[in-house]
Amino acid sequence: MKAETWKEIKHCQNINRWVSLLFGAALLGTLLYAAALHAAFDAAEYYEKKCSSCHTVGGGDDVGPDLKGVGERRSEDWLIKMIQSSQSMISAGDPVATQLFEKFKRKKMPDHDLSPDEVKQLLAFIQQGGPVEKPIDDKPATAATPQDIQLGQELFLGSRPLANGGPACISCHSVGSLGPLGGGSLALDLTQVYSRYEDAGLSKALRKTGFNIMREIYVPRPLTGEEAFALKAFLFQADRQGQESTGFQKKFVFLGVGGCVLFLGLMDLSWRKRRKKTAKPSHGGLS
Ligand code: HEC
Ligand code: HEC
Repeated sequence: MKAETWKEIKHCQNINRWVSLLFGAALLGTLLYAAALHAAFDAAEYYEKKCSSCHTVGGGDDVGPDLKGVGERRSEDWLIKMIQSSQSMISAGDPVATQLFEKFKRKKMPDHDLSPDEVKQLLAFIQQGGPVEKPIDDKPATAATPQDIQLGQELFLGSRPLANGGPACISCHSVGSLGPLGGGSLALDLTQVYSRYEDAGLSKALRKTGFNIMREIYVPRPLTGEEAFALKAFLFQADRQGQESTGFQKKFVFLGVGGCVLFLGLMDLSWRKRRKKTAKPSHGGLS
């Protein structure tokens, strides 16, 4: 009997051990997977966030040198060290780095915490021509067809997904009567944005998505030229309709005020009647 119980306990312990082992393995798997996801290095995204503010690829010198052809004029080894820490190169007395530093007005390039492999991916990205300027669609919105506007509306509402996976505009904006709070959700309402930016300004804004919060979201998932144009066309139409509806609103307010006056007038009339009635000597004796 005693031996039996002992066996059972042993058995239980075994099961326990297996269960925790399985859990452990699952946990480890999840962690490794998460780490792998995190580690996936996106050269284009990294370049856009960390390099594009100072460099161009083929667009001429900026804060730092034009990086076009940099892979030909410098060795890979030099580039890796330079990109990881230009200041270490300069303090170590590297002649080319020092020369560049002087040429670019002693502007310091920040250090980049990148592995040699990640720098190589960046260099490959630069070698391929770097960031592609998004196709500039300078057609004015007045040239849009009804199909363009329709496409813009679908993209705005998210009934058609954006090509590069950005979220639909409706998740943060409203326009006209479309949106979570209709046209009224304060700063994020885009009904009149076309008038404010004017055609070229809005094109540029949509292409570069140069707004703080939106930049975070859309820089790695840019709008295509076609999408930017369709959205502009849609916002153009919304702006026009918005102006019509403010006209309508004025009429409505007028109607409202008029109605109110009329209502008060009627009230007054009936009130007078009532007063006349009550003024009659219904209680007797008073008049
Ligand atoms: C704040 C501005 C700034 C940023 C951001 C920056 N750089 Fe630089 N970069 C410079 C300057 C300035 C130089 C010239 C050398 C110096 O002043 O140290 C330079 C030099 C270079 C050079 C040497 C060019 C040559 O002709 O030999 C390379 C390559 C380079 N940067 C790549 C990058 C990459 C890749 C990134 C992003 C990971 C980056 N830089 C981010 C400012 C910047
Ligand atoms: C995650 C929320 C979010 C999404 C999604 C979003 N926006 Fe924005 N947008 C903002 C915020 C917030 C601002 C205000 C500026 C800022 O701080 O970024 C803004 C500003 C703007 C402006 C300038 C408005 C003004 O009054 O100056 C335009 C135009 C615009 N967005 C268009 C769009 C379009 C078109 C889309 C869809 C492709 C879109 N936004 C998607 C959050 C968003």
